Amino acid sequence: MTQFTLNGKPVEVGDHPHLLAALREELGVTSPKDGCSPSGQCGCCTVLIDGKASVSCLISLDKAAGKSITTLEGFDDAERERFAAAFAAAGALQCGFCTPGILVRVKALIDKKGSALTREEAGRFLGAHLCRCTGYTKILDAVEVLARGESPQAVLPGGVGTRGARYEGTALALGDRGYVDDLRVPGMLHGALRLADHARADVVRIDTTAARAWPGVEAVFTAADLPGDLRVGIIHTDWPVFIPEGGRTSYLGDVLALVVADSRQTAREAAQLVEVSYRPLRPLTDAVAAIDDPENAVWELDGNVLSRSVYRRGDVDKALAASAHTVHEVFQTQRVEHAFLEPESTLAVPGPDGTLKVFSGGQGVWDDRNQIAAVLAIAPEKVVVEQVSNGGAFGGKEDMSNQGQTAVAAWLLKRPVKCTLSREESFLVHPKRHPIRMEYWVGCDDDGMLTALKARMIGDSGPYASVGMKVLERAAGHASGPYRLPVIDVEAIAVRTNNSVCGAFRGFGANQAQFAMEGAIDRLAAEVGLSAFEMRYRNAVTPGVVWGPGQVMDVGSLGARACLDAIRPVYEQAVADGKAVGLGFGLKNSGLGNGFLEIIKAVVRFSEDGGVEVRHCWTEMGQGVHTVALQVAVEELGVGADRVRVVVDTTRELGAGQTTGSRGTVMGAGAVADACRRALADGCRPGVDYEGEYRVDWTNSLEEGLENPVIHSVFSYAAQLVVIDRETGGIDKVVAVHDVGRAVNPLLCEGQIQGSVHMGLGYALSEEFPCDEEGRPKNMTLRSLGIIRPKDVPPIEVMLVEAPQPRSPYGIKGVGEIGLVPTAGAVAGALHDLDGLWRATLPMHLPVGAAATAADE
Ligand code: FES
Ligand code: FES
Repeated sequence: MTQFTLNGKPVEVGDHPHLLAALREELGVTSPKDGCSPSGQCGCCTVLIDGKASVSCLISLDKAAGKSITTLEGFDDAERERFAAAFAAAGALQCGFCTPGILVRVKALIDKKGSALTREEAGRFLGAHLCRCTGYTKILDAVEVLARGESPQAVLPGGVGTRGARYEGTALALGDRGYVDDLRVPGMLHGALRLADHARADVVRIDTTAARAWPGVEAVFTAADLPGDLRVGIIHTDWPVFIPEGGRTSYLGDVLALVVADSRQTAREAAQLVEVSYRPLRPLTDAVAAIDDPENAVWELDGNVLSRSVYRRGDVDKALAASAHTVHEVFQTQRVEHAFLEPESTLAVPGPDGTLKVFSGGQGVWDDRNQIAAVLAIAPEKVVVEQVSNGGAFGGKEDMSNQGQTAVAAWLLKRPVKCTLSREESFLVHPKRHPIRMEYWVGCDDDGMLTALKARMIGDSGPYASVGMKVLERAAGHASGPYRLPVIDVEAIAVRTNNSVCGAFRGFGANQAQFAMEGAIDRLAAEVGLSAFEMRYRNAVTPGVVWGPGQVMDVGSLGARACLDAIRPVYEQAVADGKAVGLGFGLKNSGLGNGFLEIIKAVVRFSEDGGVEVRHCWTEMGQGVHTVALQVAVEELGVGADRVRVVVDTTRELGAGQTTGSRGTVMGAGAVADACRRALADGCRPGVDYEGEYRVDWTNSLEEGLENPVIHSVFSYAAQLVVIDRETGGIDKVVAVHDVGRAVNPLLCEGQIQGSVHMGLGYALSEEFPCDEEGRPKNMTLRSLGIIRPKDVPPIEVMLVEAPQPRSPYGIKGVGEIGLVPTAGAVAGALHDLDGLWRATLPMHLPVGAAATAADE
C-alpha cells in the first residue's frame, strides 16, 4: 500500500502503474484526464505534487509516497470558480478534455509569477499540454486575464448572433462533466483489446488459454462468441468486429480478442497473453500500385478499388491545348492522425429488462445502435446508445471503434463492461485523413481567366470502407476550389490498402483538393503576371456561375468575394511592408448533400416553473452544438438563457445521423427553431413535447446525371493570409476571413477558426502519420505527430463575414470544417514568396533557420 495526501486528506492506495491510475481507478478522482498514459505527452493528467505541476501518469506510486497531491477538486471554491469562469468567458475551451490539466498548470504558474507572468512565458510552459481544439490563442487570453488578477463572469449568450460562454463551460473546465471513461457503475468490469501483429496475415490459431488463466480475468471473447454479424460499417458492412481463426488481418488495428477482467490493468496485461499464430502475407501499402495488384488487400473482398468518382464538362484536353497558359503538377498530401485528446471509450450496461445501454462518445449514436444490434443479433429497439459528449473527434469517431466488442462482452456476461483504448490503440484503430496523390492540369487565358481543369486523384483509404468513398467524392467535387471553370474533368479513386484506415477528418477531402488547386492558381498567377489576390478575385465564383460538378451557385456565393474584399487591405499592407505573403481561398459544403434526404428533429418542452428543455441528438464534441441549440431557443422564445436546459436525447427517434460535415449547427438550429415556433403557436403548454424538424430534400447525386445538379445545399467560404517575416523566415501572423453566413455566437466561431488554423498550420508544415512498408504506423506517440506547440503558434486574427445562405436557418453556413481548407495553400504561397520554391508535397516544413519551427520539443 502507498500513502500520500490527496487534497488535504491522507489516503492509501493499492498497486497501480502510476499515480494517475490510482487517482482515477481507485480514488475516483476524475478531473485529471487520461489522454496518453503512461507517456506523459498530453498534459491532461497534470496535478500539483507538493505545489509543483506534474503529469501524474509519469509518477510512480513510490515517488508519490508521502507527498501532498492536489487536483482541481482540492482547489478552494473561489479559486475554482475564478479559473473556470475565466476560461469559459474567454472561449478558451471547446471539448474541455485538456482544460483541467491546463488549469492546474496555470495555477502553479500564477502562484509563482503572479502578475509578472507574460503571454510568452505562459506559452512556453504550456508546451507540456496539447490542445487539439482551440489553437491556444484563447487559452493564452484567459491566462493573461487570470494573471492580472481579474475575475470575469462566464455569461451565457443570448439569442442568435450574440457572444457568450459555451453551455456547461465552467463544469467542463473543471473536469466535472464526465466523459465515458469517467463513468463508473456498480459491478463494472474492464475490457482490453488484443490487436493484430501483422497488417496482412492469415490467422491460423488464437489461443486464449493463458489469458483466461490470468488472475482477475473474467472472460475472453473472440469472433467465435459473436451472436450476430461479424462485420459492421457506416456505409459498407465490411469491417470485422473480430478477425476469426481462419480469417485474415487487413491492418494493424484489427481486433482478435477482447479480454474482460476486474481492472483495466489486469485486462491489459492478460490481453498480451492471447497467443496468435499467423501466416504472414505481403501487405499492400502503395495505393497507386494496389489499383492493379492481382492480390486483394482485404480479406474476402474482391479488388482494391473502393470507389471511383468521375464527372466532366466539355473537352478538357482541347481546352487545355487552347489555353494561353497551363500548369501541370503532381501534389501529394499526407496521412494525418486526428489526435483528439480523449481516446475512445465505451461503457455497456445490460438492463434487467433484456436491453443494453451503451454509453458512447461516437459521432452517430443511431449508426452505433444499429450496428451493435446487428452484432448481437437483437432488435435495434433493445439497444439504447446514450450520447456522452466527447473529448474531441474531428471526424475520427464516426466509425465504431470498440463499441461492438464491448457490447458483446456486456451482453454475454450480463455485467457492465467498460473498454477504454490506450493512445497507441487509438492510433492503430480509428480512421485517419487520406493521403491523396493529385495530378492537376489547369489552364487560363492571357487575362488570367481559368479555362480548364483536369484532375486525377488517388487516395489511400486503408482496408475498410468507412466513409472513404465519400471523402474522395468530396475531394472530386471540391477539385476546382471556389473558382469558375468552364471546362472540367475530374476522377478520384479511393483505394483499399493495408495501411491505416482513412475516413472522415475535418475538411473531408476538400483540404487536399484545395491545396492542389491553390498551388495551381499561384503558379498560373506567376505565369500571367497577376498578384495572388487578383488571380483569385477574377476567378471567384459568383451567383449564377456553374461550379465544379455543374452546380449553379446561388446568392450564398456572394460570400466568396466578400471574404476577398475583407482581406484585401491586410494583404496589400503586408505586401507594402515587404513581407512574404501567401493567400489561400477555399469553400466547403456543410451537410451531406449528394442527394441524401436529411431530416433532423428536435424537441422543446416547457416545465411548470418556466424552464425550457431543448432535446436534440447531436454529438457535442467541443464545436458548440449545445450552445447553438440554447441560443436558438432564446432567440425564438424570448426566454433568458439561464432558463434553458439542453439535453442530448437518444431515447426518442430524433435520428440525425452522424454529427459530421458541419451539419450540427445548420440543421440543429433549423430543427430547434421549428420546434420553438410550433410551441409558440400552441401557447407553450408545460409538459408537451413540441417536435420540430428541418429537412434538406433538394440536393442531387452525381449519379442522377443532371447537367446542373444541386450537389450541396450550403457552402461556406474563407480567405486566409499567411505573412512571413523575410528576415527570420518565421510566420508573423495568419489572418483568417470566414464567411459563416450568420455567426450564431461570434466567440465560439472565432474559437473554431483559430483551432482549425492551428490544425491547418500543422497540416501544412509538420503533421504526418506515415506507415512503413509493413503497414505499421511510424509515429506512435503524440509528440511525434508534429502538432504545433503553443509557443510556436503565430497570432491568428479572425474576421467574420456574413453573407447569408438562402434556405438555411438564419442564413447559417457552418464553420467547423472549412477552417483549415485554405491554410496549407496560403502557407505554400508565402513560402514561395520567401524563397522562390514551389512546393507540392505536405508537410512542407519551414525553411532551415526559420524562427518558428513546429513541434520541436
Ligand atoms: S495522460 Fe498523462 S500526460 Fe497524457
Ligand atoms: S479543448 Fe483542448 S483538446 Fe479540446
